[in-house]
Amino acid sequence: MVTGAVLSQPEAAGIHSLDHFALTVPDLDEAKRFFEAFGLDVKEEGGALVLHTFGSPHMWARLCEGPSKRLRYLSFAAYTEDLPHFEDRLNKLDIDRIDAPQDAPDNGGLWFRDLNGVPIQIKAGGKKTPDAKEGNGQLPSPAGCRNAPLRGTQPPVHPSRLSHILLLVPDVPAAVEFYANALGLRLSDKSGDVVAFTHARHGSDHHLIAFGKSSGTGLHHSSWDVPSIDHIGRGAAQMHLAGYEHGWGLGRHVLGSNYFYYARDPWGSYAEYSYDIDYIPKGVSWEPTSPPIDNSFYLWAPLPPEDFTHNYEDALSVAPAVHV
Ligand SMILES: [Fe+2]
Repeated sequence: MVTGAVLSQPEAAGIHSLDHFALTVPDLDEAKRFFEAFGLDVKEEGGALVLHTFGSPHMWARLCEGPSKRLRYLSFAAYTEDLPHFEDRLNKLDIDRIDAPQDAPDNGGLWFRDLNGVPIQIKAGGKKTPDAKEGNGQLPSPAGCRNAPLRGTQPPVHPSRLSHILLLVPDVPAAVEFYANALGLRLSDKSGDVVAFTHARHGSDHHLIAFGKSSGTGLHHSSWDVPSIDHIGRGAAQMHLAGYEHGWGLGRHVLGSNYFYYARDPWGSYAEYSYDIDYIPKGVSWEPTSPPIDNSFYLWAPLPPEDFTHNYEDALSVAPAVHV
């Protein structure tokens, strides 16, 4: 039994973690090359690829072959004692239950569709999101020694965990409302109706799931935690050397505060190296802000690629001309 929360009130129920996400991609071999280059432990399992971080048994993502890259489903974890509360809540919201997608390895828990038709699972499971802020407090290098290692002497960058995902959606406020009502997620910050960030009430990163305005629904990026800014820079170099030279960064976001580098995957979405994202502890009252997008998208960074926010999962949208 998975326990840990003192929760007796239904309104206090909320998921505590993003357990994993699932995609279809047109070429599993290409996906394996990309995510291995990114630093993940990629395993083959029953005709699918599963993404682990090195040293962890947890599956953070599952990729199956399909006609195009497409978000398949999202799985969230909650405390066992909260599952009946979620069931009541879904009933009150008139949200129908669905069968698990055929390729989902775990058909337990509650399955339903979000407002845009994405299959969602809420299941009992251990907390994957940290219980406290980690990775901050980087100290200056000590005096009296050479601090930078020789190039080529460092091990590959391996992210430690999945931090968050950003979904492209047609209606950001409606998505925030749905995920607040159905999953108990809370708004952290937003920029008008262009982008919004939500966190879990049991202590989580500033965002477990974020929403960006688009013509349709799709996965924009998955974000993976690394232990320093140096690791972000080395990760970017690692991707360039592996032939994945397109991306965005190094930079720092304002909402969430994390340092970032986004490596563009073969399907036009991104895997993000992230360091030092804001953390919202359990029980802390966090008042959301809504600054304008032009001074909150990033604090500093090179200019983003012209098509950075384009939704390549939406076949009807027209991609901007990109000069690379
Ligand atoms: Fe991100």
